[in-house]
Amino acid sequence: MEMKEIRALIAQMTLEEKAGLCSGDDFWHTKAVERLGVPRTMVSDGPHGLRKQDQRVDHLGVNDSIKAVCYPAACAAAASFDPDMIAAMGEAIGESCQHEGLSVVLGPAVNIKRSPLCGRNFEYYSEDPYLAGEMACAMIHGVQSKNVGTSIKHFAANSQEHRRMSSSSDADERTLREIYFPAFEMAVKREQPWTVMCSYNKINGVYASQNRWLLTDVLRGEWGFNGYVMSDWGAVSDRVAGVAAGLDLEMPSSNGVNDRKIVAAVREGRLDEKLVDLACERILNIVFRFAENARPDTPWDKEAQHAQAADIAAECMVLLKNEGGILPLNRADAVAFIGEFAEKPRFQGGGSSHINCFRITGALEAAKGLNVTYARGYDAARDEATDDMIEEAVRAAKAAKVAVVFAGLPDSYESEGYDRQHMRMPECQNRLIAAVAAANPNTVVVLHNGSPVEMPWIGQVRGVLEAYLGGQAVGMATVRVLYGDVNPSGHLAETFPVKLSDNPSFLYYGGEGDRTEYREGVFVGYRYYDKKDMDVLFPFGYGLSYTSFAYSDLRLSADAMRDTDTVTATVTVRNTGSRFGKTVAQLYVGALGGDWIRPVRELKGFRKVALQPGESRQITFTLDKRCFAVWNEQIHDWYAPSGQYEIAVGDSSRDLPLRAALTLTAGRLPRKYTMDSIFIDLMADPKAKPIVEEFMSKAGPNEIENDHSDAAGEAISEEMNIAMFNYMPLRALLSFGGDQSTADAVDALLRRLNGE
Ligand code: BGC
Repeated sequence: MEMKEIRALIAQMTLEEKAGLCSGDDFWHTKAVERLGVPRTMVSDGPHGLRKQDQRVDHLGVNDSIKAVCYPAACAAAASFDPDMIAAMGEAIGESCQHEGLSVVLGPAVNIKRSPLCGRNFEYYSEDPYLAGEMACAMIHGVQSKNVGTSIKHFAANSQEHRRMSSSSDADERTLREIYFPAFEMAVKREQPWTVMCSYNKINGVYASQNRWLLTDVLRGEWGFNGYVMSDWGAVSDRVAGVAAGLDLEMPSSNGVNDRKIVAAVREGRLDEKLVDLACERILNIVFRFAENARPDTPWDKEAQHAQAADIAAECMVLLKNEGGILPLNRADAVAFIGEFAEKPRFQGGGSSHINCFRITGALEAAKGLNVTYARGYDAARDEATDDMIEEAVRAAKAAKVAVVFAGLPDSYESEGYDRQHMRMPECQNRLIAAVAAANPNTVVVLHNGSPVEMPWIGQVRGVLEAYLGGQAVGMATVRVLYGDVNPSGHLAETFPVKLSDNPSFLYYGGEGDRTEYREGVFVGYRYYDKKDMDVLFPFGYGLSYTSFAYSDLRLSADAMRDTDTVTATVTVRNTGSRFGKTVAQLYVGALGGDWIRPVRELKGFRKVALQPGESRQITFTLDKRCFAVWNEQIHDWYAPSGQYEIAVGDSSRDLPLRAALTLTAGRLPRKYTMDSIFIDLMADPKAKPIVEEFMSKAGPNEIENDHSDAAGEAISEEMNIAMFNYMPLRALLSFGGDQSTADAVDALLRRLNGE
C-alpha cells in the first residue's frame, strides 16, 4: 500500500483507534481495525526456528508452541563464519513463517557477549561487533527475501540478564558506537530490518523504550531506519515518553492502560498527535507489506529442514583440540559414547527462543550401525554422577579404543532471565571426564554449551569438539564431524578465557543495584586480552581442521591512502593437506602508535574458503575509512586518525602470519585553539606549526626555548626542556615568551591559529 493511502486510512481513524493500534491485541498480534480493512498480523519468536504460540499464551516457552524445526542457536551459527549459509537458514525460516502466516520473526539477537556470564549468550552471535553485524545482515537478508519481517533485537546494550528490566547500562558514547551499536547499524543500513525491538534496560539512565536519542536521532536520523520499533515484551515504562521518543508498538498490550494515557496526553496537549499518526503509519506500512505479500500456500517441508539443520550444525562445530590427530575416528574402531548428552543432546537454550521440535536426533541415534557403546555417565537434570555411573563409564572407556564424552552445560546453568554465577562446568561432569581420561588416554570431549566454560581437564584429553547448542539435528552433525564425513570448519566467535576473572568486565559485570557501568570501555573480548598480552584458553577466531592451510602473498593495492580512498588487500590461501576442507580467512586492522587508546587490532573482514587438497585461491578484502576509524566525541562522528596501520591476515586472532603496513592520511579535524592549547598539539598540526614557528622566531630571546639549567642552578636535560615546552599552553607565552609576547601579540597569534 502506498504511503499516501496509509495516511488516508489514518486520517479516518479516531484518536482512540490510533492509540490502540500502537499496542498489541494480545501477546503476539497487532490490532485490526476492521471497519477500515486493517488486518491483524502475528509476530513470533525464533529466531533460529519458529515458536508460534496459539491459545495459551506465555512468552517464556513454558507452554507448547507448534511443532517446528530448531536450527543452531546464534552462538553456534556465528562460529560458522558463513553468511551465505546463515542466509539460507533465514530463507528456510522465512518460508516457514509464510506457511504459518507470521509477519515478523523476532530476531536476530545481536547483543555483544560482554561476559561469559550472560545467561543469553547462546542467543547472541559474538563478542565482536563486526562479526555479529555480518551474521545479522545475512539472517535478515534470508528471512526478508521471503517477504517476512525480522526484528533485530535487543536495541541496545543489553548484555546481562541480571535485573534486566530495570538496570541501566552506563557506557560512554565511544564504547556504544564502537562496540554495542555497530551490529545494529550495519543491519539497518544494509538490510533495513522491517522492525527493531528495543531492549528492557536503560542506557545511561534512560529506558531504551523511551530513549529519543537511541530510537530517533541515531536509529532513524543517522542510520535511516524506516520500519517500526516495537518494545521488548513489557519493556514500556512511560508510554507517552515512548511515543515521543519513537517507540511505535508496545508489546504485548497493557490492557488499554497505556493506550488511554496516549489519548489523554494528546488531549491535554502534552503529546503531539502527529507523533501518534507517525507511529501508526510505520506500523501499518509493515502490516500491509506482509498482508499484501502473504503466501499461506508456501510449503513447509520439515523433513528437508531437519536435514538442512544437520548440514548447518556441522559447519558450525569448532575443533578446539586434536592432539596426534585423534579425530577423525575410524569407522572400524570400538568407540564409547559417554554422557547423557550423547543420547539427549542439549541443543537449544531456555526462554523465549525455545522451540518445540518436531524431531531431535542425538549422536547415539545418529551413530546407529557404527561400532559404538554407550554409558550415561551423569544425570543432567539432577546434575549428578553416581559412583555407579562413573564406574560404568570407566568400564566402557577401557573396553573401547576411543572414549568420547558428551558434556557441557545443563539447561539450568544458562538461560534467558538470569546470568550464570561462574564459568565452570558441572563438577560431576568434570569428575567424569577426569575418570574417563585416566582410564583411556584416547579421550575426546564434545561440548554442548552456549557460552565459554573453564576446562580443568584440558591437559588430560586428546580432543575437544565445541558443538555449542547446535539445533535439533546436532547429533547427526556431531557424528559426521567425529567420523570425518564433514571436516570441521567452525571458528570461535568469542574468546575462551582461562578463567572468569580474566574477563575484562569481571570487576563490574552485573553492576551495583540498577546501575551497570561498562568500565572496560571498548576493551571487550579479544580487544582486551590482546592489549594485555594475556594467555587465553582459546582465542577469538580459532578453529582446527582435519586438513591444513597456508596463507601467503598479502598484497595491498596501495601502501598509503587518504581517508576518502579505499584499499584492497589480496591474499592467497592454499589447502596444504590431503582432505577437502574450509578455512576462515580473517583480516584485522591495528593502529601502530598514535594518540588514541585503541585495541591492538580489530576484525574488519573475513571469508570462508572451501578448498580441495592442493587447491589455492586468491581472496580480496576492501578496506575503507571505517576500518580505521574511532568514534570521535569531539566531532561527533567517525574519524580515522592519520598514521601507520598494520593489516594482519590469518585464521585466528592469535595466528596472523601475514602482515602489511599502510599509511593513512586523514582530513583535518575541525579545531578551535584556545589559550590553554599546548605546544605539542600546535606543532603536530601542519597548519599551526609554521605560524607558531614564525611567532617564536620573531619573539626574540625567551625562556621557553632556553636551556633552564642556569636559571634552576642545576642541570636540566635537553629532553626535559623539550618536554616542558611541549606541554606548555599558549598562555605561557605571556610569562615566558620574552618582550615581544605582549597580550595583544599573543591574542593576535591565537586568532591567526584559528584562521580568523
Ligand atoms: C525477550 C525477547 C522475546 C520476547 C517475546 C522477551 O522476554 O527478551 O527476546 O522476543 O520476550 O517472547
